[in-house]
Amino acid sequence: MSNKILVTYASRAGSTAGVAEAIGKTLTENGAQVEVLPMQDVTDLTPYRAVVAGSAIQAAQWLPQAMQFMQTHQAALTQKPFAAFLVCMTLAMPNAGKYRPFVADFMQPVRALVKPMSEGLFAGALDIRKVPSLADRLKFRLSVVFGVWKAGDHRDWAAIRAWAAALKPVLAA
Ligand SMILES: Cc1cc2nc3c(=O)[nH]c(=O)nc-3n(C[C@H](O)[C@H](O)[C@H](O)COP(=O)(O)O)c2cc1C
Repeated sequence: MSNKILVTYASRAGSTAGVAEAIGKTLTENGAQVEVLPMQDVTDLTPYRAVVAGSAIQAAQWLPQAMQFMQTHQAALTQKPFAAFLVCMTLAMPNAGKYRPFVADFMQPVRALVKPMSEGLFAGALDIRKVPSLADRLKFRLSVVFGVWKAGDHRDWAAIRAWAAALKPVLAA
């Protein structure tokens, strides 16, 4: 069987793709064979020994295509070491630590399909100009004005790398 680990992601504006790339890089530096792919490019999990899947959060949920990926590949994923991550802005709020249990609940629908061996919860990035819907742009501008969310890139590369480094032995189990 192949020894390759798949790191796959669903991203709208690119920040989750960047997190997936960083996870893949750390796993590679730790001696794993890794492929990093957007979920829409993955049709078959047979070539992979383990899978790490992650999504951007919108409306407190993994993106629809990420949940579709979980449903399509549920049977295969239950047979392999599997880890999951999410990227969201709640963890970029002041006092983000106190929101971690709330954010961890965003993983519940994923867990209901396949229980991850490890879960990574990461702050993301918000570029309001990249939000396609005018109503959402307005909502986010207001959130920023009222200090709920801070626009900009809040990805914590050290935390992402630390999670990925700890994954290697978990995925080898
Ligand atoms: C329409 C929309 C809805 C969002 N909803 C949430 C949310 O409910 N909770 C949250 O913490 N972050 C939310 N976010 C923030 C995104 O999860 C965050 O910006 C993430 O880094 C985006 O990932 P991407 O660049 O890969 O698309 C939302 C962003 C957008 C554009």
